[in-house]
Amino acid sequence: MSQQAQQIPPSSDEAHEPETPHLDFQGTTPYEDYVRADVLTHLQHTLSDDPGEMVFLVTTQVMELWFTVIVHEWETAAGALRENDVPTAMAALKRSVRELEALNASWRPLSQLTPAQFNSYRAALGEGSGFQSAMYRRMEFLLGEKSASMLVPHRGAPRVHAELEKALHEPSLYDEVLRLLARRGHAVPEAVVRRDVSRRYEPSPEVEEVWTALYAGDETDELARLGEALTDVAELVWRWRNDHLVATRRAMGAKPGTGGSAGVAWLEKRARKNVFPELWTARSHV
Ligand code: HEM
Repeated sequence: MSQQAQQIPPSSDEAHEPETPHLDFQGTTPYEDYVRADVLTHLQHTLSDDPGEMVFLVTTQVMELWFTVIVHEWETAAGALRENDVPTAMAALKRSVRELEALNASWRPLSQLTPAQFNSYRAALGEGSGFQSAMYRRMEFLLGEKSASMLVPHRGAPRVHAELEKALHEPSLYDEVLRLLARRGHAVPEAVVRRDVSRRYEPSPEVEEVWTALYAGDETDELARLGEALTDVAELVWRWRNDHLVATRRAMGAKPGTGGSAGVAWLEKRARKNVFPELWTARSHV
């Protein structure tokens, strides 16, 4: 019971009222201490006078937060697989599937942006582009889409650069999956198990055969279910890329991107890439 409620004797009606939340705190509220909402809600520094810029900035920030959670889940999953703990990895992957759905739903406020609306604040972005998102890059690295050149834009930011460099040299989530399959006796080639993990993962026919055999076998098998959870992840990443592509096509047509790329043509090429490639190609052989 709160102090205030003790001082004022309740009337007969109030005696049945539910307890109200506490109001008195010495410093900042425990909510603030945990959530840092004051910090979070004062990070919206728009660069133009256009009222539509706020939702563009906040959507981008919201997506950065989801990238952060998803990286956390995939790192948890990769670490668990390294320890042969498939249930912990599956739990993290399943959480990430629901988080990817929430991430993708956050395209809605930007999905119908017109060129005229985007133009009202586009110039203010200068050369700023999501291409420079370090947390998105860590997601791509965890999926096996490694590239040392993606560290170059972050040379001026030591912490970000160090985190990305570490991620570049660590096995991706998919590397950990394939190593686990090898430890469980599946014929994953030595060259794949011992590959240079700082390079982009290239699909292998032998790995495709391993997935084909797993998919043709018992669907309730732990590794077959792991394959399906990874396929869910892959599909939702592909959806993010395509939602981004469509939003970009609507907002700026074939104009070059603020980050200096050809824009839609460059994004189309990125969106064509299959995440965890053999999980898709194996399906033709089952
Ligand atoms: C509708 C508004 C948007 C447009 C028109 C747009 C446009 C573009 C373009 C043209 C590129 C290619 C690189 C460049 O030249 O800039 C790009 C890349 C990228 N954008 Fe966006 N973008 C939009 C919204 C967002 C949002 C809200 C995010 C969330 C963080 C985001 C994240 C990214 C990422 C991560 C890349 C790099 C993709 C990769 O490396 O494959 N974009 N964007």
